[in-house]
Amino acid sequence: MFPNVFAPNLLAGKSALVTGGGSGIGAGIARLFAQHGAKVALVGRTAQKLETTASAIKEAGGVATIHPCDVRDYPALETAINDAADANGGLDVLVNSAAGNFLAPAATLSANGFRAVVDIDLCGTFNACRAAFAHLSKRGGSIVSITATQADVPTPLQCHVGAAKAGIAKLTRDLALEWSKLGIRVTAIAPGPIEGTEGMSRLAPGDAEQQLKSRVPLGRYGTIEEVANATLFLVSPASAYITGTTLLIDGGTSLIGPGPFLEMMGF
Ligand code: HXC
Ligand code: NAP
Repeated sequence: MFPNVFAPNLLAGKSALVTGGGSGIGAGIARLFAQHGAKVALVGRTAQKLETTASAIKEAGGVATIHPCDVRDYPALETAINDAADANGGLDVLVNSAAGNFLAPAATLSANGFRAVVDIDLCGTFNACRAAFAHLSKRGGSIVSITATQADVPTPLQCHVGAAKAGIAKLTRDLALEWSKLGIRVTAIAPGPIEGTEGMSRLAPGDAEQQLKSRVPLGRYGTIEEVANATLFLVSPASAYITGTTLLIDGGTSLIGPGPFLEMMGF
């Protein structure tokens, strides 16, 4: 259980779907939403990971369903989203957290490697928004997509991720405008380095972790709980006049540019 910093049951009666909800930041968001009374649907490729997160939610008294599929496969994702809406009485909230990442120099990254990340992160986000639209447009709702500071900060070995995440930030603004009249708010969150995640184990393994931490202006990695709380704020009535924005949750990392990453990556 996360400690409550918001009023309890903020999402009572709501239905939410989280892509990438089986692990890391997506799982943390799903757990917090369920703790606040939402029925939560989890999407990801690995059923076992989804099952583990769903079990934790149920053990804590929440409601969770699992819908294994690949966000790159539009028909399968559309079916998953429709099934989730059927099971949970519609859909009010979509969170796009599914992503892929690895360190690779642009000079040797294959076209397929670049495409794989853009397909999962950017196209997968569009696919989920597009398939969720039929449900969100019925009674209004909100979408939050997880981007990354690499969308704005030039970062070596991350050109594929930067391009994909920058695309999500722009997609967020376009959908926010197109769907505003239907009462659908569309926002994004750009986390910096977050403790205990697959993302950071890929980007800063071993000794690199302490090196990077010491350069973060706020002096530490963020927590999954902090990203989940910010996501809850963005889907709550407290943010009713916010749409199109990308909220940085990075401990000030992007304020100092790529510096810490340059050192860590041996530039
Ligand atoms: C270079 C690589 C590579 C690597 C894969 N590829 N790993 N190229 N270096 N380390 C290339 C492959 O050679 C292949 O190209 C192409 O990418 C597709 O590889 P597949 O294995 O077939 O792809 P797929 O099974 O779809 O897997 C996608 C994946 C994988 C992204 C490659 O790592 C994955 O599924 N990751 C999901 C979990 C994850 O990444 N979590 C972290 C998210 S965190 P060729 O040309 O050989 O066919 C995150 C943090 C952001 O995003 C910011 C933190 C600050
Ligand atoms: P993670 O645990 O690996 O989360 C990514 C999830 O996406 C996994 O559960 C993965 O499950 C799922 N996924 C990957 N490819 C998929 C696909 N094709 N279809 C469906 N699901 C797929 O990593 P994380 O670090 O928590 O990252 C979560 C989000 O935060 C990502 O968007 C990431 O870019 C962003 N982010 C993270 C950090 C950080 O410090 N960790 C910083 C900035 C931004 P399966 O492999 O089972 O499908």
